[in-house]
Amino acid sequence: MDQFTLDAIERITTAPRETYGSFTVDPLTPLLGAEVSGLDLSEELTPVQQKEIRAAFLTHHVLVFRDQHLTPDDHKRFAGLFGPLHPVALPEEDSDPYILEIRANKDSRAVAGNGWHADGTADAEPSLGSMLHITEIPEIGSGGDTLFANMHLAYDMLSPSMKAFLDGLTAVHDGARPWLAQGQLPPAEYDVPRTEHPVVVRHPDTGRKLLFVNGPYTSRITQLAAAESTAVLEMLYDHIARTNLLHCRVRWQANTLVFWDNRCVQHHATWDYFPHARYGQRIAIDGTRPQA
Ligand code: SIN
Repeated sequence: MDQFTLDAIERITTAPRETYGSFTVDPLTPLLGAEVSGLDLSEELTPVQQKEIRAAFLTHHVLVFRDQHLTPDDHKRFAGLFGPLHPVALPEEDSDPYILEIRANKDSRAVAGNGWHADGTADAEPSLGSMLHITEIPEIGSGGDTLFANMHLAYDMLSPSMKAFLDGLTAVHDGARPWLAQGQLPPAEYDVPRTEHPVVVRHPDTGRKLLFVNGPYTSRITQLAAAESTAVLEMLYDHIARTNLLHCRVRWQANTLVFWDNRCVQHHATWDYFPHARYGQRIAIDGTRPQA
C-alpha cells in the first residue's frame, strides 16, 4: 500500500468519533457505513436523536436501519428531517411525485443503478441523499446487495500532484447519457438537465474535499482535449471501482432502510438475483449546488 493511501486511511481512523447516547452505531467498515440500532423510524424522533443521527450521517455517510416497518408517510417524515423532499425526475402517472419505486422481477431487462454512480448529478442541485426502504428481497434469501464507495477517500488517496491537477477543473454532467448508454433517447417530456460542476468539490456540511465525477453522467472535463478527458475519467472510474477499501456492502433484509449521502458516496446496485423479485421505495432529499 502506498504512503498516500496509508495517510488517507489514518486520517479517518484516528479522527475523534462521536459517541451516541440514544442509539447504537456499529461501523460496517472503519472507512464507510454504519448500522444503527435502537431506533423505530415509524415514531417521531426526539431532538437529541435527530442531532445524533445527523452526526452519525456526516461521520459514516451510509446508515443502515434494520427491521423498520414504515408507511410511505413515515418514510417521508424521516426524510423530511433532512430537508425538503426531492421530486422524482420522471414520475409515473398517478404515482407519488416523491417516491421512486425500485422494482425488479422476471420480466425486467434492466434495473436501476446497476453500475457505479451518484444520483442525478446532471442537475444543477443534485440530491443531498436518498433513503431506500426495501420491503421485498429476492425469494432465494440473498442477492441484490448495494455497494457504496467513499468519494472523500477516493480523492484523499490520490497523489498531491494528481490532486493539484484535478483541483480547479470542471466537468459537464449530462442527463441524456444514461438513456443513450441503453440505446434510447430521453423521453420527449424530459427536460434534460446538463450542468458543469467542479471535478473536486467540498462537502457543504463538513468542508471536506471529494471526487465528483461518475460514469453514467459525466461526459467531459471541460479544460482537457477529448482524448485526455476520456483517459483521466477512465483512470478515476477505475480507481473508484477497483479500490475495495473505498467500498462497503449492504446486504438487505426485508424492511431495511438505508440512508446514503449522495454528495460524497457513489453506489452500485447488484443484479445477481434474476429472475427473482426485489422491491423497495426510495425518497430523496433536496441538495445544493456542488462548490469547489
Ligand atoms: C439506486 O438508487 O441506484 C438503486 C439502489 C438499489 O436498488 O440498491
